[in-house]
Amino acid sequence: MKSIWNLIAFILLLAVYSPNLLTGQTTHQLMVDVSQSKAKIQPTMYGVFFEDINFAADGGLYAEMVKNRSFEFTLPKMGWLQPKSDRHSLNLNSGMGTIIKTEGNPANRNYLSVQVNNPEGYELINEGFRAMGIKANAKYDVSFHAAQQEGNITGVRFQLVTKDGKVIGETMVSPKGSEWKVYEAVITATETAEKAHLKITFDGKGTIDMDMISLFPQDTWKGRKKGLRKDLVQLLYDLKPGFLRFPGGCIVEGRTLARRYQWKKTVGPIEERELLVNRWNTEFAHRLTPDYYQSFGLGFFEYFQLSEDLGAEPMPILSCGMACQFNTGELVPMEELDPYVQDALDLIEFANGDVSTGWGKLRADMGHPEPFNMKYIGIGNEQWGPEYIKRYKVFEKAIKEKYPEIVIISGSGPFPDGEHFEFGMEELVKIDAEIVDEHYYRPPEWFRENATRYDSYDRNGPKIFAGEYAAQSVAIASPDNKNNWNCALSEAAYMTGLERNADLVVMTSYAPLMAHAEGWQWTPDMIWFNNLESYGTANYYVQKMYSNNAGTDLLSITQNGKAVTGEQQLFASAVKDANTNELIIKVANTSDKEQMINVSVKGDKPSGKAKVFTMATDDMEAVNSFEMPKKISPKESTAELKRGVLAATVPSHAFVVYRIKL
Ligand code: AHR
Repeated sequence: MKSIWNLIAFILLLAVYSPNLLTGQTTHQLMVDVSQSKAKIQPTMYGVFFEDINFAADGGLYAEMVKNRSFEFTLPKMGWLQPKSDRHSLNLNSGMGTIIKTEGNPANRNYLSVQVNNPEGYELINEGFRAMGIKANAKYDVSFHAAQQEGNITGVRFQLVTKDGKVIGETMVSPKGSEWKVYEAVITATETAEKAHLKITFDGKGTIDMDMISLFPQDTWKGRKKGLRKDLVQLLYDLKPGFLRFPGGCIVEGRTLARRYQWKKTVGPIEERELLVNRWNTEFAHRLTPDYYQSFGLGFFEYFQLSEDLGAEPMPILSCGMACQFNTGELVPMEELDPYVQDALDLIEFANGDVSTGWGKLRADMGHPEPFNMKYIGIGNEQWGPEYIKRYKVFEKAIKEKYPEIVIISGSGPFPDGEHFEFGMEELVKIDAEIVDEHYYRPPEWFRENATRYDSYDRNGPKIFAGEYAAQSVAIASPDNKNNWNCALSEAAYMTGLERNADLVVMTSYAPLMAHAEGWQWTPDMIWFNNLESYGTANYYVQKMYSNNAGTDLLSITQNGKAVTGEQQLFASAVKDANTNELIIKVANTSDKEQMINVSVKGDKPSGKAKVFTMATDDMEAVNSFEMPKKISPKESTAELKRGVLAATVPSHAFVVYRIKL
C-alpha cells in the first residue's frame, strides 16, 4: 500500500518539475544574448505593397462609389443602366441618354448628353463597384459637372436605392445655364444597405450634358473630401508599415508599353487624369473583370500623402521600358529609353523638389508644398534577362548622377530560384546593385523549408528586399488558394529567417495586399473587403505581429549554439527594442505537438512577467471571414519569468511573440 502512495507522489513530483519526461517531449533550451546587437533592424523591415489588383484602388481604397463616372470606359455606358429607355425604338416618351465625343480634353473626352422628353420616362442608374455599400445616418457627397443644352431641366434628383427599390436617401440639385459647372449636394442615408445603387431622375424637359458623376462617403480617412476608405486605411495604419511600395507589381509594366503605368497621368486635377484599362481586367480567364479600369483618383499625389499618413517610406516602382514578360514583353528600343528615365527623374522632383521646380510646384499646387522626402525608387518590377540589366544600368547612371542620395531597388524576376533568378542576381551583384527585390509565391512547405534561405547570402553583395511573397495553398494564382492558417503559420516560421538575417534583408512585404470579395482576380490576399466591411486574414495578423514587434536590434537566439531554424519544427528569432528596453522573442511551432521552451537571457536577468501574444489553432484550414474576422488573431496573456528564465509551452501549430522587460 505504502509503495503505491510513493509511486503516486513520485509521478506528481515528475508532473510538476519535469512534465516532458512523462509526455516524452523535450524542452528546448534556448539562449538569447542581449549583450550584443548583431545588426540594426531597419525601420523599413516590415512594409506593405499596394497594387491596384482585385479592385484594391477603384472599388476599394479609393472611396469613389460610382463606376465609370466620366464615361471613359471602352464601352462608355458600362456601369450605367437606363432601364426605362429603349435603345432600339426612338420612343419620344422616354428619355434618351447619349454619349457624345467632344474635341476637348483628350484625357476626358466623353460625357453623357441626356435628352428628357418625359421626366417620368427616364432614369439613369449607376451600379457601383459590385453595388454600393451605404451606412445608416452617414452622409454622402454627390458631385457632377453639367451644362443645360436646351429646354428647361429644373432639377436633377439623386437617390440611394436598395436592391428592392427602396429609397434610403436623396437630394435634388437645380442646374443652371449652358456653361459647364460643377454641382455638389449631400445625401444622408436612412438605412444601411450592402447592395444599393445610385439612381438619377430629372424634373422638366430638355437636354442636359453631364460628366464626372461622383458619390463619396464623407467619412473617409482623415475626413478628406473625395478621399480614401477609412476602414481599409486603418487596417494598413495598424500594421505600422515601414514603407509603402506602389503601384505594382505587373501593373507598372502593362501588357504593352502603351498601357504601362505612367505616373504623370495620375497627378493634377482628377477630371484630367486619363483613364486606363486595368491590366488585371481580363488577365485570368477564370476571373474575368471587364469593368476594371484605373481612374487614378488614387494617383501619385494621394500615394505620397498616404505614405506620409502611415509613417511609411514611399517606394515608387517605375517602368523600365519593358512590358510584362508574361504578356507581350514589348521592349522600348535603347535609343528611345530617355522619356522613361526622365519620368524617374521627374518623379523624384515631384516628391522632393523645391516649389520653384516645375514638378515641385505641381506638388505644392496640389496641397503639399513640403517635400515628401522620398528616399527609394524601384526600377522595373519583375523583369528578367539581359534586356533588363541593360536598361537598369541606364536608369541607375542617370538617377545617381542627379540624385546620388536616392537608393535604387532592382528586381530579380518573378521566381526565387532558377535560370532567370540566377542570371539577374549574378549581374546585379557585378554592378553593385544596392537593394534587390525578390519574389516568391510558393507552397507553404517551401516557406517552412527555406527559413535558412538568407543565412548563406554573401554579406558583401546587395541588400535584399523580399518584396512579394505569400504561401499558395493550392498553386500560384490558383482561384482556390486560401488565406488559411497553414499558409500564415508557414509564413510566420519563414519570417523568423528574414528577421534573423536583418543585417541583409532590409525590407519585406506580403503580396497582394487587398481584394474585393466579389471583384478579385488573385488570391490569397492579406486583406479582404466588401462594400461595407473589411477584415485582416490570418496572414495579416502574422504580418502585424512582426511589424508591431519589429524592435531595433537583432539578437542571437540559439539552441546548442545553433540558430533555431526548424529542427523539430520549431523556429525562433529575437530582437531588442532599445526604445522600450524590451527583449522580443518570436517562436513558430509548426508541429502538431506543443513544445516546451526554456529561454535563458545572456547579459540580463529579467524578472516579472512576459507579455505573450499567441496565434494558434490545430485547424490548418481555418480562415478569417466577414462573419468571424478575428477567428485567427493574437490572444494576449502573460508568462512568469523564473530566475531570469522564460519557461513556456508553445502550443501546437502556433506563432507566439514574447515581450520581456529588460
Ligand atoms: O501580386 C500579384 C502579382 O504577382 C504582381 O503584380 C507581380 O509582381 C507578381 O507576379
